Amino acid sequence: MANKQSRKIAIVGGSGSVGSPTVEALLSHGIHTVTAISRSESTAIFPSGVTIKEGSYSDEEFLVEALKGQDVLILQLGFMALNSQIPLISAAAKAGVPWVIPCEYACDNRHDKLNEEIGLMVMKNKYRAQIDSLGVSSWIGIVNGPWFDWNFEKSFMGLDIKTRKAKLFDGGVKFNTSTLSKVGKSLAALLSLPDSKLSAFKNDFVYFSSFLVSQRDVFDSVLSATSTKESDWAIESESPDKAADAAKEAIQQGNRMGNVDLLFATLSRVGYGGDYEAKAIGNNFLGLEQEDFNKVVKDLVEMMEQRK
Ligand SMILES: NC(=O)c1ccc[n+]([C@@H]2O[C@H](COP(=O)([O-])OP(=O)(O)OC[C@H]3O[C@@H](n4cnc5c(N)ncnc54)[C@H](OP(=O)(O)O)[C@@H]3O)[C@@H](O)[C@H]2O)c1
Repeated sequence: MANKQSRKIAIVGGSGSVGSPTVEALLSHGIHTVTAISRSESTAIFPSGVTIKEGSYSDEEFLVEALKGQDVLILQLGFMALNSQIPLISAAAKAGVPWVIPCEYACDNRHDKLNEEIGLMVMKNKYRAQIDSLGVSSWIGIVNGPWFDWNFEKSFMGLDIKTRKAKLFDGGVKFNTSTLSKVGKSLAALLSLPDSKLSAFKNDFVYFSSFLVSQRDVFDSVLSATSTKESDWAIESESPDKAADAAKEAIQQGNRMGNVDLLFATLSRVGYGGDYEAKAIGNNFLGLEQEDFNKVVKDLVEMMEQRK
């Protein structure tokens, strides 16, 4: 990607699931100054080339000092620590940081039907509202769909490699999904754009995607990667509509895994915003290569089978 702009980038959560590939990708550009802000009690490890500032996420003086002179604050805190964003966003405003990338990394936040169905997504709105109300920093919200590798490894997509059990969505449609590495590379490429191009994304969402696939596409790729036939698997099949209803009931009964089932069932339903292909930012624009879907699946399957 020609015409890059170097930036001073602070990152919180930079050793986490999406934080690690983001830091790696930022460093790979060789032009940015990367500062990891981390908790004093954290066991986080960062690659060489990263400046580390340790303190408390509720210590305003520490945060403002750490954020002074930074061009960007990337927030990549774990789901249970989302509220730690509040003092960080406030400190970013006090330090005059122009750009904040809040914790989003979810599905299409602009899709009303999807937002109505998935209550967890709406939870992140207040952090963007906080940035807006402070009126100093601009935000960019990352939409990346479910993280492909992260969810696949945890068998959240209904395919259990170990036990050869599959819960298939009968008639499930295609949805966008991104690998963690693609999210990190896309975000690093975005933040390397010159101001003239980056400003187009101000206070808006940007859509990253590795693949547009249905759960059936994933299963077909798994069959090929495992050299198995459907008859080797114990298969349950249900429409995504029915699966979504069952997941809602499970959530009501206090089963938190129901949220995962509800997400994939909803993304597989017709008209629920799982497919945001038309909004996805192109690889050409970001200077990225298209990943090979079957290779990604094969590598994941091999890694999981070695763990058996
Ligand atoms: N699209 C998807 O499929 C998907 C899946 C999972 C998560 N997400 C979203 O992605 C974002 C990042 O999630 P992640 O899974 O990458 O995060 P993570 O790996 O669970 O955690 C990232 C960092 O958060 C900090 N942290 C963890 N627990 C904390 C606590 N109790 N108090 C304060 N800080 C804490 C730690 O940083 P330090 O130790 O350096 O302080 C940690 O390295 C979240 O917005 C989450 O909702 C999306």
